[in-house]
Amino acid sequence: MIGGGIHFMKYLKKSDPHIAKLIVAETKRQQETLDLIPSENIVSSAVREALGSALTNKYSEGYPNKRYYAGNAVIDDIELLAQERAKKVFRLGSEWSVNVQALSGSPANMAVYFALLKPGDTLLGMSRPFGGHLTHGDAVNFSGQIFKSVLYTVAHDGYLDYGEVHKLAKQHKPKLIVAGASAYSRIIDFEKFAKIAHEVGAYLLVDMSHISGLVVAGVHPSPFPHADVVMTTTHKTLRGPRGALIFSRNDKMIASRTKEGKEISITRAIDSAVFPGLQGGPHDNQTAAIAVALGEAMKPAFRVYGKQIVKNAKALAKNLQKLGFKIISGGTDNHLMLIDMTPLGMSGREAQDKLESVGIIVNRNTIPYDTRSAFDPSGIRIGTPSLTTRGMKEKEMALIAGFLHATVQGESIGTLKKQVLALCRKFPV
Ligand SMILES: Cc1ncc(COP(=O)(O)O)c(C=O)c1O
Repeated sequence: MIGGGIHFMKYLKKSDPHIAKLIVAETKRQQETLDLIPSENIVSSAVREALGSALTNKYSEGYPNKRYYAGNAVIDDIELLAQERAKKVFRLGSEWSVNVQALSGSPANMAVYFALLKPGDTLLGMSRPFGGHLTHGDAVNFSGQIFKSVLYTVAHDGYLDYGEVHKLAKQHKPKLIVAGASAYSRIIDFEKFAKIAHEVGAYLLVDMSHISGLVVAGVHPSPFPHADVVMTTTHKTLRGPRGALIFSRNDKMIASRTKEGKEISITRAIDSAVFPGLQGGPHDNQTAAIAVALGEAMKPAFRVYGKQIVKNAKALAKNLQKLGFKIISGGTDNHLMLIDMTPLGMSGREAQDKLESVGIIVNRNTIPYDTRSAFDPSGIRIGTPSLTTRGMKEKEMALIAGFLHATVQGESIGTLKKQVLALCRKFPV
């Protein structure tokens, strides 16, 4: 059965069979493949119901109790509940506020930059080929074009080099330092980042998009004692719909953009940057779905889930290493790992394609000091959030490591495909 029971897409199948057919095909693909992409997850049916609700019909520019449209009493309750839960999940006090309206991670980072920086100001972030995100100052992204970006890397052992971050900060005096990554498998020391930021008078933004679910579960140190602003997407380890949360210290002040330049809190500056600075109306169905996901993340079962993500990643790394795979930095502390495929005689792209042919979905990725291009890099990036949501544990990680090994060794695609499918059926989405 394709997700959602007998009424699944009852209306869509009649009114637009073409799109309905494509959605069925994608649902089947998700059910019949192993998703090892570390930035993906599987949301609950409750989250999907909120996403597909009547809330999508509403316009509510502005913030709770300060809207530019009538009819927003219910929407106000939903947004306030999302804010309240976001703060509860991360156990935050009254010095923190949260904006739940940014449409996704990239616009959320953009809002933070527009609130705290002026065009041409310097920001210090992690280099993308070394594991950072596009929005942390990459040359092809607005963040590297509107601002002067300085980029830190990782050392040859694959670990962050805090000495380098310190040196670059002293040399370039950034106004903002971004800590956080898209492809880094080790614990990030937010305290060290904060010390550097304080020394040079920079704001510290922690982009915990990848690891926020692990922070909830207590398996990654929290950035909140150290950062001025914390951003997270809601759709990765946090297991919600697409979206973002921007937490900020409401006791930190900044000069406003008005002629008088009077001091306002960074929270107010961020709220204004999101709306009206960058967006019109929020996506209220998405806000409700975020609130539902946060409600799920507050339950004890989510802590168990977050812990299992890390246990699974460690088990997967260990089994792969036993089979001869070269894991960058020698292992993982979180939900993901990078593998250098070149010692096995193939590029990341070849590995990605071969694995897809047997039903294992990974993404190709540069490795630190990669000599190949981002389009055809040396590595792949794999992770365990989605497999863990399906209920898989260490035993299945050993099996999957075996599948990866057999695939790159060129064993029969037909046989492997059947084995992968059998495992998927045992752990349905
Ligand atoms: C660290 C980090 N920040 C921001 C983003 C951007 O999120 P989105 O894809 O929702 O724009 C991502 C997503 O890949 C990410 O990994």
